[in-house]
Amino acid sequence: MNKVVIMDHPLVQHKLTLMRDKNTGSKDFRELLTEITMLMGYEITRDLPLEEVEIETPLVKTKAKVIAGKKLGIVPILRAGLGMVDGLLSLVPAAKVGHVGLYRDPETLKPVEYYSKFPKDINERDMIVVDPMLATGGSAVAAIDVVKREGAKSVKLVNLVASPEGIAEVHKYHPDVDIFVAALDERLNEHGYILPGLGDAGDRLFGTK
Ligand code: URA
Repeated sequence: MNKVVIMDHPLVQHKLTLMRDKNTGSKDFRELLTEITMLMGYEITRDLPLEEVEIETPLVKTKAKVIAGKKLGIVPILRAGLGMVDGLLSLVPAAKVGHVGLYRDPETLKPVEYYSKFPKDINERDMIVVDPMLATGGSAVAAIDVVKREGAKSVKLVNLVASPEGIAEVHKYHPDVDIFVAALDERLNEHGYILPGLGDAGDRLFGTK
């Protein structure tokens, strides 16, 4: 069953409170999201394997650890997921970035894929799917479906704010995917928005309505 990690570090909580505030503008919202993603990256990458290499300090030869050849891939769900890419890339600059675009069919209400592009060696990478809001879970489940269909063997999901409903949905369809969130909020409203949440993450990131 999925591991759900709630990253409630004081710095993360403080920055998330600023993001929730409706008076926080796009510039600060974007910067805070990047900062929180970077802080979350510390925990997300905790299981990266290490290997020993020989180096020479100014004093002696010694063995020291570096990250082993394990490769990461970051997959933002368009469009709000884009706001979580730079924070992770600043920690792992060699990561490749795939993209998944989904829209909701107005009749079936099911997510439909309109764009996807991935690194060639997706099957050799730990793929990290990112989206600030895990609301109904429909987009996350569909994006993970796509990433697995393209060959990913190892997938993690990273969200800023999640609803209990969204976590349950990912649990149901992808029990192998660990979920990392900064906050688990109370519930969804009748329009599928997370309460208390922070509103529409894409609009707040990009200054649209
Ligand atoms: N997407 C958002 O941007 N916000 C929500 O509260 C739910 C889904």
